[in-house]
Amino acid sequence: MGNIGEAYPMKSGDGLHSYSNNSYFQRDIINAAMQIVGEAIVKIVDILKISPSTTIRVADLGCSVGPNTFFAMENILEAIELKCQNQGLDSQIPEFQVFFNDQTSNDFNSLFSSLPPNGRYHSAGVPGSFYSRLFPNHSLHIVHSSFSIQWLSRVPKKVVDRSSPAWNKGRIYYASAADEVVEAYSAQCAEDMARFLQARAQEIADGGLMILIFPARLDGIPHSQFSNNIMFDMLGCCLMDMAQKARNMVVRWSIHIQGFS
Ligand SMILES: C[S@@+](CC[C@H](N)C(=O)[O-])C[C@H]1O[C@@H](n2cnc3c(N)ncnc32)[C@H](O)[C@@H]1O
Repeated sequence: MGNIGEAYPMKSGDGLHSYSNNSYFQRDIINAAMQIVGEAIVKIVDILKISPSTTIRVADLGCSVGPNTFFAMENILEAIELKCQNQGLDSQIPEFQVFFNDQTSNDFNSLFSSLPPNGRYHSAGVPGSFYSRLFPNHSLHIVHSSFSIQWLSRVPKKVVDRSSPAWNKGRIYYASAADEVVEAYSAQCAEDMARFLQARAQEIADGGLMILIFPARLDGIPHSQFSNNIMFDMLGCCLMDMAQKARNMVVRWSIHIQGFS
């Protein structure tokens, strides 16, 4: 079941440039989705026939280092508890187990050392790619994933192959690229999504719920005009400029050293 594809974990720890301190935008979106999530949870609580002996198992896929994952999990648990209380089932409030999943190179130490102290749930780490099986059959009631499934399992091979019509000329994204490049990314996305959904279809219990939050482009908006894509294009240009400057410096130094010897 191990790791598949490439892994680029978020900046670890809790320093100035860490993911923990630079992910407010993502948290705001998780917050904005909470009403829809709450409504979906109300429906599944009825279907799952909760009793005090039930343990509700929730997984957050691509959890990173927090605190967003804790915030999202607390919201889900609160919605379930509220529903039980509203039905006069205070004594029926179940136990919760939360599985925190990310790539093995994720900073799980930081994640677990900043777990909320209230001990509302039993927690466990599940390292590995969500593009493969991570959990036993029918074992999860709720799967949550925010800002993670837009990460492909790998850069499509064709876009880095100079001999391919889909070669992306060193760019990191496809906003201003040829159709062949867009098609290569699109094919990789379709393959990854199929693997993601096949794995979850086996892992989620009957009547369970999957909550996926990820950036998307509205129909009719061209790739080149979608704000996220424009940002990635600008970032790509800066990286290419930096790489070019580094190359020039290496050439200058090597000429200097040759002149010296
Ligand atoms: C932008 S962070 C999102 C973190 C958190 N869910 C949030 O909303 O703030 C994306 C996370 O997805 C993880 N990720 C990307 N591809 C993954 C994969 N195939 N399997 C598991 N985690 C993955 C990355 O390591 C990263 O921690």
